[in-house]
Amino acid sequence: MHSLTRFLLAAAPTIALAIHIPRQGVDFVDPRIDGGSMLDDAGNGLGEPLNVIISGLSSSPVLTSEGIVNYAKAIGFSEECLGIHLGDPQSANLGDGRGPVNQTIELRQDYGDPDLGTCLESLIGGNHFRVFPQTGPLHPTNALFLAVSQEENVSQSHTISPDGYNVGRNLLVSNAIGDTSFGGVNYHTEAQNLTGLLAVGSGGVNHDIALDGIVTLLTVTITN
Ligand SMILES: *[C@@H]1O[C@H](CO)[C@@H](O)[C@H](O)[C@H]1NC(C)=O
Ligand SMILES: *[C@@H]1O[C@H](CO)[C@@H](O)[C@H](O)[C@H]1NC(C)=O
Ligand SMILES: *[C@@H]1O[C@H](CO)[C@@H](O)[C@H](O)[C@H]1NC(C)=O
Repeated sequence: MHSLTRFLLAAAPTIALAIHIPRQGVDFVDPRIDGGSMLDDAGNGLGEPLNVIISGLSSSPVLTSEGIVNYAKAIGFSEECLGIHLGDPQSANLGDGRGPVNQTIELRQDYGDPDLGTCLESLIGGNHFRVFPQTGPLHPTNALFLAVSQEENVSQSHTISPDGYNVGRNLLVSNAIGDTSFGGVNYHTEAQNLTGLLAVGSGGVNHDIALDGIVTLLTVTITN
């Protein structure tokens, strides 16, 4: 048999199986189990913490790229200022079988104006986050891992504030908890702090900023 034909025959059952695997009913899978990391790759040998996880048990529309943008607007963030991207994308290995994958989107605090507020954030600093979905073939949980940080203003070249990872996470979570809405979608968000996923301290962390070691798990339910 021709080797290509043999490969396709061998691969066919796997492909059929992959298509029919249902979404796994779990919050997320620890990326470290299959060679991933809870720090992303900032491109300089260091990383930013994936310090918020939106559970795979959230309402499934929240876990799409349109869905996370709408949810972000409900909790005070928006897409980057007029589509202008400041800084390089970062990548993360979520141990889902895909290896390192770039962020799918980056959202910034919108200061109350979803259209122009992120331009203000770009000038004066503020909270922002990068999104990494756990969708690879090993663990297609659809959980969204967020790298959240509070930035200084542009005169500080957008460096992270002192304690900017913990502060950024706490600000995002306090805006998210409870009932919120945007664009006609109503959300209810529950939070739970997890320890043991991120190390306490600044080992391997970009900008040498120490972490308190907490990852907050958010479960977001659409209530309408
Ligand atoms: C991420 O994006 C940058 C810029 O587009 C690209 O050079 C890099 O190869 C990408 N990294 C990964 C892991 O896909
Ligand atoms: C930017 O940050 C610097 C240092 O923290 C501060 O002196 C300056 O006033 C800030 N500028 C704005 C526009 O917030
Ligand atoms: C999670 O930990 C942070 C930092 O200690 C704290 O401010 C927050 O209230 C905690 N949240 C929950 C849901 O326990």
